[in-house]
Amino acid sequence: MSDLADRLQQLQTDALAELAAAADAGAVDTLRASLFGRSGRLTVLLRGLGEVDPGERPAVGKLANDVRGGLEAAITERLATLRAADAGLRLADETLDMTAPGRPVRVGHLHPSMTVERDLREIFHAFGFEIFEGPEIETDAMNFEALNIPPDHPSRDLWDTLYVAEPGGDPRQPAVDGTILRTHTSPVQIRAMRALTPPIRVITPGRCFRYEAVDASHGFEFFQVEGLVVDRDTSLADLKGMLEEFARALFGDGAKTRFRPGYYPFTEPSVAFDVSCLVCGGPGCPACGRSGWMTILGAGMVHPTVLRAGGIDPDEFQGYAFGMGLDRITLLRHGIPDLRLLMSADLRFLEQFPGGR
Ligand code: PHE
Repeated sequence: MSDLADRLQQLQTDALAELAAAADAGAVDTLRASLFGRSGRLTVLLRGLGEVDPGERPAVGKLANDVRGGLEAAITERLATLRAADAGLRLADETLDMTAPGRPVRVGHLHPSMTVERDLREIFHAFGFEIFEGPEIETDAMNFEALNIPPDHPSRDLWDTLYVAEPGGDPRQPAVDGTILRTHTSPVQIRAMRALTPPIRVITPGRCFRYEAVDASHGFEFFQVEGLVVDRDTSLADLKGMLEEFARALFGDGAKTRFRPGYYPFTEPSVAFDVSCLVCGGPGCPACGRSGWMTILGAGMVHPTVLRAGGIDPDEFQGYAFGMGLDRITLLRHGIPDLRLLMSADLRFLEQFPGGR
């Protein structure tokens, strides 16, 4: 046999001995590279096959294949043995502490305003109110006219309105059908009256939009919860009693409240309902406009014109309505000094309110 055959056999003997001595998978990998790599010992020998005497070539070729196959199989086997031993070693080393707390799973939670909304739903549910929702995109007719606010009436100035443009038309011109983003949840009063028969007791939570200069207490996008009660012999006294109960349920027995005369075109008489500022507790701060009070809602007896727009006979039924800004209530509850934080989507802020799920 040729010189090459001897060297192949020698390499096989050496390699098997080295393999047996390899202490871990890393050593086996190194050995494998030293044999099969581009300038590995076996690779170099195999390159010499071409120079073997043609008569001997079949025999030497077979030997070369056997050596290569044998080494590959031996390496694979050795690796498997080492890995199994390694794993066994680690398991044996490990102490399993059954009392160790599990790894925390990160789950989201409700936005603090949505937690407040849920609480409001619950409080009003206890007072016998049901939920009635309306669309965020409304018509001028629903948002204003049905609420006793005719076109060009100066009271429109109370609501800075975002008008929707005609599709494909001049973006600066409002759509001819008067499509707007609702400025309050009050149009849902009309929808509720048209859909339900008295006695009606609904709250209508939802998102509203106004063309506002944004500051610590004004946003262009905010949430309201509207309430509407329509029944026989419903009075302003009912409204007052209900709102005082509501403030106690939401803010606790210590909350101070006051009613002030107010003005809304869709209620007569109208009131504003204030709660003592929970951020500063009275002396005044940016959140309460330095007054010590926060107006959390407007309310009043539903105007007869509005009842009629809802298809209800004002000689037979009376109603009261109220509308509150959810975000302000969130500020009050948590002592948050700036409304803009609520819409900031900043986790450093949001994670401070892990309340609701
Ligand atoms: N819609 C009024 C506002 O957004 C609030 C309100 C609702 C007042 C219901 C009276 C009755 O300012």
